[in-house]
Amino acid sequence: MRIFFEGKRRKQIGQERKKIMAQLWGGRFQKETDKLVYAFNASIGFDQKFFHEDVMGSRAHVKMLCKQGIVTEDEKNEILKGLDSIEKDVEDGTLLITEEYEDIHSFVEANLIDRIGDAGKKLHTGRSRNDQVALDMRLFTRNQVKETDELLKHFLETIEAVMEENVDTYMPGFTHLQKAQPVTLAHHLGAYFEMFKRDRLRLYDIHERMNYCPLGSGALAGTTYPLDREFTAKELGFYGPTNNSMDGVSDRDYLIEFLAALSTVMMHLSRFSEEVIIWNSNEYGFVEIDDAYSTGSSIMPQKKNPDIAELVRGKTGRVYGALTSLLTTMKGIPLAYNKDMQEDKELAFDAMDTVKGCIALFDGMLATMKFHKETMAVSAMKGFTNATDAADYLVNNGVPFRDAHGIIGRIVLYCLDKGITIDEMSLEELQEFAPEFKEDIYEAISLETCVNKRLTIGAPGADVMKDVFKKNREYLDNSGIEN
Ligand code: ARG
Repeated sequence: MRIFFEGKRRKQIGQERKKIMAQLWGGRFQKETDKLVYAFNASIGFDQKFFHEDVMGSRAHVKMLCKQGIVTEDEKNEILKGLDSIEKDVEDGTLLITEEYEDIHSFVEANLIDRIGDAGKKLHTGRSRNDQVALDMRLFTRNQVKETDELLKHFLETIEAVMEENVDTYMPGFTHLQKAQPVTLAHHLGAYFEMFKRDRLRLYDIHERMNYCPLGSGALAGTTYPLDREFTAKELGFYGPTNNSMDGVSDRDYLIEFLAALSTVMMHLSRFSEEVIIWNSNEYGFVEIDDAYSTGSSIMPQKKNPDIAELVRGKTGRVYGALTSLLTTMKGIPLAYNKDMQEDKELAFDAMDTVKGCIALFDGMLATMKFHKETMAVSAMKGFTNATDAADYLVNNGVPFRDAHGIIGRIVLYCLDKGITIDEMSLEELQEFAPEFKEDIYEAISLETCVNKRLTIGAPGADVMKDVFKKNREYLDNSGIEN
């Protein structure tokens, strides 16, 4: 228990602290914990991440204890002052959080007792580390949900801006990675807008379901002290207290839901990454990733690699891993708290940081990416993406669809043989396949027509996209998670 003071004073404090620590749960023990057991059991290495949440929870708890007459006004003030000083010292680095404490809860309590003495020993009245950790993790996660949502919102703003600039940037739409029908970049990115919008809606739902306060659940069965759980819940920005104390200490559903939502975000980012990688390839040449968002090769001087997109794609597995891990950890746990639950933290923290980083980086990469509009349009023209429209032209001129499909199929074969596109055929050539072809066929199968005649809801036509932009803007201006 030495930490932040140098020399003799540090040693002395160390000894005092050892006594205090033992008092946290050492009363019924006659032997020291085995060193390896101590290290195996401890969580301070990672739960220090929610130090601030732990202090916040303690503030709310002590205010409630005072309001209920369980501690005096003076004791409350001393505890609050002690907590403030601990927070300040941790923030400015004079108090280090170190491995000598079993967990962050012990760290705060031991330091409080060390600083203010007997009043500090009253803080834990009517509270268990079980409801304390349930509260801290929930507060921390709630904040992460919000931060992730804000990053996604910013990312959606970027997607929307690129969409609005590219309503007439034609490109092939693909199925089976084969050119299928022409779309626009605005429309293609619009699909991602929908995905990340749904991701935000999921976060919103999670927030609504998780925003209930487990503090006051005690170890598992509540407490005989007259705690005011409504008060602490309100104090900490929750909608109210959780309903059942056994569930309160052992519920990690919200975290599983969050990891599932994060996994879905990563799945979307990974698909997007894959497209960027393909578009950036020498063969496609649809985009150029900005120098600031790509890397080179140590041996091949010509290389400019899409490492960010590849890493985002790669990190997806890591986030799925966190979800699978927690689902597996939770599946065999009887009520109520069991130490297995301590395993909810490390991978979840890693997943939270990973996803936030990936969103921010992808956002920057997209915002700075150059689109080679000409190459994209030529690619759409070269791939018979207007074949469906050519068939539709015949249908509009009285040919049954199935016959039209056959005629255009034969035309495609003819073109492939000659190395040309449908619109490069002369009218006479076309009429040999079907007399219904007239001069207006060229206009009917131009990229512009193919795209802009698609005017059903959700289609790429410019007029439809204008409505989409309006809706997207309206949505962006009115979305967000409030606490
Ligand atoms: N470090 C523990 C965790 O993360 C805190 C709760 C400890 N409770 C207990 N009964 N040992 O879950």
